[in-house]
Amino acid sequence: MKKDLMILGIESTCDETSAALLKGGKEIVTNVIYSQIEEHKKYHGVVPELASRAHAAKIATVIAEALGDNPLDYVAFASGPGLPGGLMVGRVAAETLANFKKVPILGINHLEGHIFACDFEGTEAKSRLQFPLVALVVSGGHTELWYVEGYGKYKVLGKTRDDAAGEAFDKVAKLLGLAYPGGPQVSKQALLGKRDAIHFPRPLLPGTWEFSFSGIKTAVSYYLRDHQNFSIPDVCASFEQAMVDTLVAKTLGAAKKYKVHHIAVGGGVAANALLRETMQHAAAEAGITVHFVERKLSSDNAAMIALAAYKKLEYAEKTGKPVKKNIDINPNMKVRSWD
Ligand code: KG4
Ligand code: ZN
Repeated sequence: MKKDLMILGIESTCDETSAALLKGGKEIVTNVIYSQIEEHKKYHGVVPELASRAHAAKIATVIAEALGDNPLDYVAFASGPGLPGGLMVGRVAAETLANFKKVPILGINHLEGHIFACDFEGTEAKSRLQFPLVALVVSGGHTELWYVEGYGKYKVLGKTRDDAAGEAFDKVAKLLGLAYPGGPQVSKQALLGKRDAIHFPRPLLPGTWEFSFSGIKTAVSYYLRDHQNFSIPDVCASFEQAMVDTLVAKTLGAAKKYKVHHIAVGGGVAANALLRETMQHAAAEAGITVHFVERKLSSDNAAMIALAAYKKLEYAEKTGKPVKKNIDINPNMKVRSWD
């Protein structure tokens, strides 16, 4: 592979329009992110139609800004999972650019991007991930546990049966009249409350590596219905504790069961300070190292898509197996091993 291979990544699966340029699989040259939060705020959640329109309106300028006058060798875009409208905008932009510049194109699984993002330290990819590991993908749309044997070798252990963890944070924030996205708002309030004030359930679903967060959210809604004078900080602190206890118990449980010494945590909810602290502490006691994505790259961005593309190309070169282009968009795309 060319030493300074320039990959332009494109991300448009949910409510961020992003394009990034990655040099030699190592250095983020640019990572332009346009967040649509202002468009969705008054609805307390992402409105798919508005998201598609905003992606269509912004993607050309975001790409132009990220690419600038730099050379280009490859285009990579997130082809799923995500909202169909956003995925279509990403594909059309990516294919147009690739055809115009006469460079190859690759579709990337957005969730793989969230885990590869753990490799970055600042703007440098540092190969921090060590295998085998257990990965927790924890975002607004997904909560999944994977056993990862090496780059491109996955086994999905379990997923959420209902709400994703970020979705539960967003829904509880909405119940409390807090702004969207709910995660950071709930965390801010939680700092002022007592974590043991209210007991919300910890759905551990023993015998499975699945999650279920809708029960915690429903317990919060019943608590608010049944109490006239509740304390928002206490509700947030107790809810956050229940979410974090569940995520940590399941992830550590899987890591111990599969006898791995490394855990990777990526996705928007990975920015949560209580999750970071609690997971680090519990893992250290078990002699396990946790690789959290840095906060800046925890939410959706195109640098993680470009890095996943680089790793895929590197893998193809090493193994001599052709890389699958994967450019058909798939809103429900599952993570798959590369072989
Ligand atoms: O990965 P992401 O940017 O988008 C998806 O792929 O879904 O994740 C966004 C989600 C939102 O649900 C947001 O509330 C949540 O991540 N989030 C947090 C925090 N920061 C963002 N949840 C809990 N605590 C946080 N500090
Ligand atoms: Zn995401």
